[in-house]
Amino acid sequence: MDTAAHHLAALRREYAREGLRRHDLADDPSSQFRRWFDEAVAAALVEPNAMVLSTTDGSRPSSRTVLLKAFDARGFVFYTNYESRKARDIAADPHVSLLFPWYPLERQVCVLGEAVRISPAESLAYFASRPHGSRIGAWVSQQSSVISSRKLLEMKWDEMKRKFKQGEIPLPSFWGGFRVVPMEVEFWQGRENRLHDRFRYVRTGGGAWTIERLAP
Ligand SMILES: Cc1cc2nc3c(=O)[nH]c(=O)nc-3n(C[C@H](O)[C@H](O)[C@H](O)COP(=O)(O)O)c2cc1C
Repeated sequence: MDTAAHHLAALRREYAREGLRRHDLADDPSSQFRRWFDEAVAAALVEPNAMVLSTTDGSRPSSRTVLLKAFDARGFVFYTNYESRKARDIAADPHVSLLFPWYPLERQVCVLGEAVRISPAESLAYFASRPHGSRIGAWVSQQSSVISSRKLLEMKWDEMKRKFKQGEIPLPSFWGGFRVVPMEVEFWQGRENRLHDRFRYVRTGGGAWTIERLAP
């Protein structure tokens, strides 16, 4: 078995970029996230706003990448098809997790939260800002359903392009955003000898947060 997989056991890196200190942390996870997010952008990471969203239908977990499109103290917003697998999962159980894999910075951020639909007005504001092709694309695909061929997709694309030749492309009723309202947010920074720094913000009553250090 002389393949790349054979050498996986030897694939490891020492993490030594920097530490994360308790007294350097912001009081709330949204401010701390903004600092790290800005650094991820400044470091020119590929898709710094890509995050892995995990959901469960009550028994089966599933994960996929989505793009973070807004965040503030209320939470993390992404957009999707409201009839997709992930949206059906969220309807069954709103608990989700988010993972930002910022490996070149030797960092990850993990969020546990509850996903809630944002208002159609908020979704529309974002939808209207998307490129023409993306707006039509939202109308074309019944996301997560089984289809027989790519040809079908292309036919639907042509049909929707004809349909929306003139005027505004309306917001599909089956498309919009979710806000993940965080309950816990963990910031992970790689350190030497696997003695990594991990700090977890946990929401307490009244909008306050406590911060605890976790063993690596
Ligand atoms: C980098 C990247 C970004 C993506 N961004 C989104 C997104 O913002 N919204 C979305 O619905 N799907 C996005 N996708 C596609 C999803 O990963 C997924 O295939 C799709 O949403 C269907 O997921 P589901 O069947 O589990 O609901 C993205 C995929 C990649 C690789």
